Amino acid sequence: MLEVDRLTHSFVNGGENTTVLKNVHFTVSQGEMVALLGSSGSGKSTLLNLMAGLMKPTEGSIRINGQAIEKMNENQLAEFRRSNIGFIFQAYELIPQLTVRENVELPLVFQGIRAKERRAKAAELLERVGLGSKMEMYPSQLSGGQQQRVSIARSLITRPAIVFADEPTGNLDTKTEKEIIDLLIELNETLRITFVIVTHELEVARRTKRVIQLRDGELVEESGQAGEAE
Ligand SMILES: Nc1ncnc2c1ncn2[C@@H]1O[C@H](COP(=O)(O)OP(=O)(O)OP(=O)(O)O)[C@@H](O)[C@H]1O
Ligand SMILES: [Mg+2]
Repeated sequence: MLEVDRLTHSFVNGGENTTVLKNVHFTVSQGEMVALLGSSGSGKSTLLNLMAGLMKPTEGSIRINGQAIEKMNENQLAEFRRSNIGFIFQAYELIPQLTVRENVELPLVFQGIRAKERRAKAAELLERVGLGSKMEMYPSQLSGGQQQRVSIARSLITRPAIVFADEPTGNLDTKTEKEIIDLLIELNETLRITFVIVTHELEVARRTKRVIQLRDGELVEESGQAGEAE
């Protein structure tokens, strides 16, 4: 499903070259839920952004369902991302002028899906994430945890092959964090959505079956929890 092959990434700043990721190599299977850990500045967001096609790697390859995304041109990549990749941000990134339902529908607008079908799909997902009664409200009228649920529903609306989340609970209190992780685990188990979740929180990593960790730009695979290693 996801194959990261000898990925290296460097940033050039004022003539100085900093290598953030070194020869990172791993695969994620369909239906897996993986936590990506690492200290601040270890390159987690960089790796996630590369895997989601938000930037191009210096070296190496990223294949999603067998397709090398670094080889695609702008248009191909935009099209591929639209139907295959979901992304959940730490700060939700909802559009304040749109209702909850309209925010969730938006990726389908870009796909040219008709209003009636969009509405039905958004309503179904919003029910699923526990926001059936808030569909016509605006993001500012919701709590942080509820806004993150909206952004989760939005990330799933196109039924992507894989969803990347960058510290999805980073702005939430412990109780809400637990509820969001419960929801992600439920979506992983019932819909077989593949998730890669960047987190600082050991609590989040403790609950996923597989943990990978970045250290000094290199990837270290943690052993799975009792009997659940891949
Ligand atoms: N656009 C950029 N230009 C130059 N350097 C960058 C850029 N983006 C990130 N970096 C550097 O790459 C390194 C890794 O950054 P990254 O954001 O991937 O870390 P992170 O593991 O996500 O950290 P955090 O946990 O704080 O979010 C940092 O040293 C950062 O300064
Ligand atoms: Mg980060």
